[in-house]
Amino acid sequence: MILVETISDFRAHRKKLGGTWGLVPTMGALHQGHLSLVERARRENDHVAVSIFVNPTQFAAGGDLAKYPRTLERDMQLLEPYGVDVVFAPSSDEIYPPHFQTYVTVEEVTQPLEGAMRPGHFRGVATVVTKLFNIVQPDRAYFGQKDGQQVAVIKQMTRDLNILVEIIVGETVREADGLAMSSRNTYLSYEERKAAPVLYRALCAARDAFQRGERDAEKLRAAMRDVLKQEPRAHVEYVSAADPNTLQELEVVENSVLLSMAVRIGSTRLIDNFLL
Ligand code: PAF
Repeated sequence: MILVETISDFRAHRKKLGGTWGLVPTMGALHQGHLSLVERARRENDHVAVSIFVNPTQFAAGGDLAKYPRTLERDMQLLEPYGVDVVFAPSSDEIYPPHFQTYVTVEEVTQPLEGAMRPGHFRGVATVVTKLFNIVQPDRAYFGQKDGQQVAVIKQMTRDLNILVEIIVGETVREADGLAMSSRNTYLSYEERKAAPVLYRALCAARDAFQRGERDAEKLRAAMRDVLKQEPRAHVEYVSAADPNTLQELEVVENSVLLSMAVRIGSTRLIDNFLL
């Protein structure tokens, strides 16, 4: 496994190795969720690249960009046993050189939910993912279902821009108490960490209602809100029962539904979802 920090070095390496490539784009602070994607990429491709880049354009001004965990040495150690070929960890200037002025905007699917709460976030995600696709030219790229709207945005973007890459979505990996693994979980205090699985319990309540035959989307949203209300540390930003492709809120679930939520526990913003 080699560490590459420039685009030209990455391209030289890519050319030398040939074969099929899987890319796992990350912002580092790796956990089991990332590693399960890497494991799958290893099985499905000749070569695997993991990018580690804390992308400034997807953070709001005054957001948590500065305090986002940067743990490259530990990340490299975690990746070592997985047979990764290249870790691509560019600097901010390498990706956004002076006078950079081109961004990718995906329209409708970025408007609700995370897009409404975090203006500009998906413009940053779509731009950096397009750049990573152009640099790495992977056959397959691996993303976690935990960021359900991000998955919908990236699928829409690759279709719209005819980017020749297969988007593979890995299941959310959870702690024993159901909390979805996330690099931001490290921000939680002891008491907040105890409160955080309320997101999972809320999703389970809506899923159970769905499995009992409930198809009224408002009742599914109410089932999630009822559970979240019981946790005084939970401040709800949104709960949603939406079409998984368009992210538009449903009235009645006819086929599939993406149940999702964003909840603040203390100053930490957590998101989670179930795709039914
Ligand atoms: O999901 C993430 O970690 C980031 O949004 C991504 C896809 C690596 C782009 O910066």
